[in-house]
Amino acid sequence: MAGPSDSFRFPRTGHEVPNRAVVAAMTNKQSHEDGRLSDAEIEWLRRRAEGGFGIVTTAASHVVREGQGWEGEMGVWGDHQLPGLERMAAGIQAHGALALAQIFHGGMRCPQRLTGVQPVSASVNETSDSDSGATRALEGSEVEALVEAFADAAVRCEKAGFDGVEIHGAHGYLICQFLGTGTNRRSDGWGGSLENRARFLLEIISRVREKTGENFLVGVRISPEYRKIGVTLEDSLDLVDLIVDAGVDYLHISCWDCFAPPAHADDSRMLTEIFAERLASRLPLISSGAIWSTAQAQEVMEQGADLLAVARSAIGHADWASHLGEADYEPTRPPFTAEHLESQGLSPVFVEYMRAWRGFVE
Ligand SMILES: Cc1cc2nc3c(=O)[nH]c(=O)nc-3n(C[C@H](O)[C@H](O)[C@H](O)COP(=O)(O)O)c2cc1C
Repeated sequence: MAGPSDSFRFPRTGHEVPNRAVVAAMTNKQSHEDGRLSDAEIEWLRRRAEGGFGIVTTAASHVVREGQGWEGEMGVWGDHQLPGLERMAAGIQAHGALALAQIFHGGMRCPQRLTGVQPVSASVNETSDSDSGATRALEGSEVEALVEAFADAAVRCEKAGFDGVEIHGAHGYLICQFLGTGTNRRSDGWGGSLENRARFLLEIISRVREKTGENFLVGVRISPEYRKIGVTLEDSLDLVDLIVDAGVDYLHISCWDCFAPPAHADDSRMLTEIFAERLASRLPLISSGAIWSTAQAQEVMEQGADLLAVARSAIGHADWASHLGEADYEPTRPPFTAEHLESQGLSPVFVEYMRAWRGFVE
């Protein structure tokens, strides 16, 4: 049985990873207004690669200008963003880690005050943003154009030197809005059955694979359950088969808590076990959520994960991954002082943002 500090090899591309530790995608609001990366954003991820993480994922980055979900978000929609992306990929890889860019579109969660246009979604949906009001349902031709935009963004990431992309289908953003029966009430080929609701994601996978090189890694992150918009565990498990057939390099499930069973399904097993069983080793599985100690990391691997993504542990401890060979490693947990976080490579802007995560900053 492999452990968290053992190396890993992606079967299709042969990419080698020195250990099982992945920096999960983390928004940090440090990019410039036009989506270019700031030095601070590059530095915080470079520090995690230096700290021993095998894979480092960028923050969610929007593939078209209007897909921006919040201030300070990194973009992958224009060539003016290339120099920063190049520096980030090279900075991560210089320490032997793989660099992945997480690509997304916020859909109904793109405030009009930020983008200047009415937000879009699979259907007409009320946004939680009083300035934006309701969304506009995308025309079929617009959905096709967005598929192409995702593929073009992936090509841009490849050109910048990234090893691959993670397509963000989790957490209620546009791809997730297509998957959910609550937010997708379309009656054309992009809505209705699970196959139709998944078509947006599957077409994105297919075009990304077509437009990028054979060795470019393509992964997908999903939320196993997202009740608010109608994503159910049952659908997500059937989606696994569609994703496997689409030909990606890994599936990443965002569990929020790897040590809790599904919230809305009658199954007492942990989400990682349930998905590992369905995958039956057809694809590498990344799992994430509330992993801090080595014992917990080992436990999630025993549940069936091949790789472990961490967010808050990686914020608090730049070198978290380098301790995974110690069986009793128990990193300190929040609240952290601002001084500690700055010592771990967070800029004051990022520390300020982390105050929004309850109990994280002292
Ligand atoms: C500051 C912060 C920003 C995040 N931004 C993203 C993001 O851009 N994309 C994403 O898929 N998940 C995002 N997440 C969720 C994390 O990737 C992760 O799934 C979640 O925090 C649970 O893992 P943890 O318990 O290790 O923190 C973010 C989490 C944090 C704490």
